[in-house]
Amino acid sequence: MNLRSLGRAPQAKRVLVRADLNVPLQDGEVRDDTRIRASLRTIEHLRAAGSAIVLASHLGRPKGQVQEGLSLAPVARRLSALLGEPVRFAPGLPTGADARTEVHRLQPGEVLLLDNLRFDPRETEDDPGFAAELASFGEVFVQDAFGAVHRAHASTHAVCAILPSFAGYLVQEEVTALDRLMHGTGQPFVLVLGGAKISDKIGVIEHLAAQAETVLVGGALANTFLQARGVPIGRSLCESGELDVARGLMRRFSDRFRLPSDVVVSRAMTEGGHAVLVEEVGSDEMILDIGPLTRSIFREAIVPAARIFWNGPLGLYERAPFAEGTLAVARAVAECKGYTVVGGGDSAAAVAAAGVAQSVSHVSTGGGASLEYLEGRTLPGLVGLSER
Ligand code: 3PG
Repeated sequence: MNLRSLGRAPQAKRVLVRADLNVPLQDGEVRDDTRIRASLRTIEHLRAAGSAIVLASHLGRPKGQVQEGLSLAPVARRLSALLGEPVRFAPGLPTGADARTEVHRLQPGEVLLLDNLRFDPRETEDDPGFAAELASFGEVFVQDAFGAVHRAHASTHAVCAILPSFAGYLVQEEVTALDRLMHGTGQPFVLVLGGAKISDKIGVIEHLAAQAETVLVGGALANTFLQARGVPIGRSLCESGELDVARGLMRRFSDRFRLPSDVVVSRAMTEGGHAVLVEEVGSDEMILDIGPLTRSIFREAIVPAARIFWNGPLGLYERAPFAEGTLAVARAVAECKGYTVVGGGDSAAAVAAAGVAQSVSHVSTGGGASLEYLEGRTLPGLVGLSER
């Protein structure tokens, strides 16, 4: 997809930048600053050009009300530490009186972070009035919130109709990587899909499975496919309302689907687990990871691949006894010499935890956004940036 790039933006005194600074917090501090770091290149570029930067983001889902626990204040502190410069911050409503005062005080090269866009209910309603208030904060708009471009919200969509709009470096890099993956011709192309919900993955399976040689499925997603095949899965998490969808996908792509042959099971998530063949899951047990045999079968498919897309953990990754399958997949993807793309919070965290992020061609900052892009959809946050 051809986007109007930041390099072509006119020199502007004040620039409104939408970033995705939706990061995990713990005890009032940022737990993982990957997304903040990913936004630095665009910010540094604009500062070097002497623009004043008004930065906007959402954090969590506060449902249109100011919530202290979802303030971007900790993000402002971390951003300031990363830039080595003070970052101004306007707490409360993102276009309220305090924010407006701060915007007018802002000097060339300074950065102001507005508070959580979703404190205002008009943000998620794609409200043109709210977009106009935001637009009044800049002369041009730079979209760098790749993780949010699948949302039709005021700060990702409506604002583009008001200000001259350009793609920031992160958005540009993400789109280039996903295009290379999707339009490449290298084979074998392998999809590795995990996570909980089949509904999140149907689109990408439908759009990409035909050109993939293998679709490796794990996580709770695999439980739904196993149940659809009539394999008893005990008390495992499964979408029983989606069994027909799962059967339909397996019928269409039966030669490509690989489901787990063995799994790690337990009677309780708080206990450890043990590996059994998939046919041997007890009626009181839950499948919580792929087993060692499956890990090695998946590795054999992953390592020689020419292209890989991986989204979603292969087990209950947040609990150490059930993280091994996901970590094994992370290591296998890193061993692959082909073009490898990892998207989604847990998968990205797994490549980082396995210490192999540098060996993956592209780790996307957008889970839902990368999936929807790979479904071939037109994303609302990108339409206004496309070069016609
Ligand atoms: C994400 O974390 O996937 C993005 O920041 C989008 O957040 P959302 O799913 O709440 O819109």
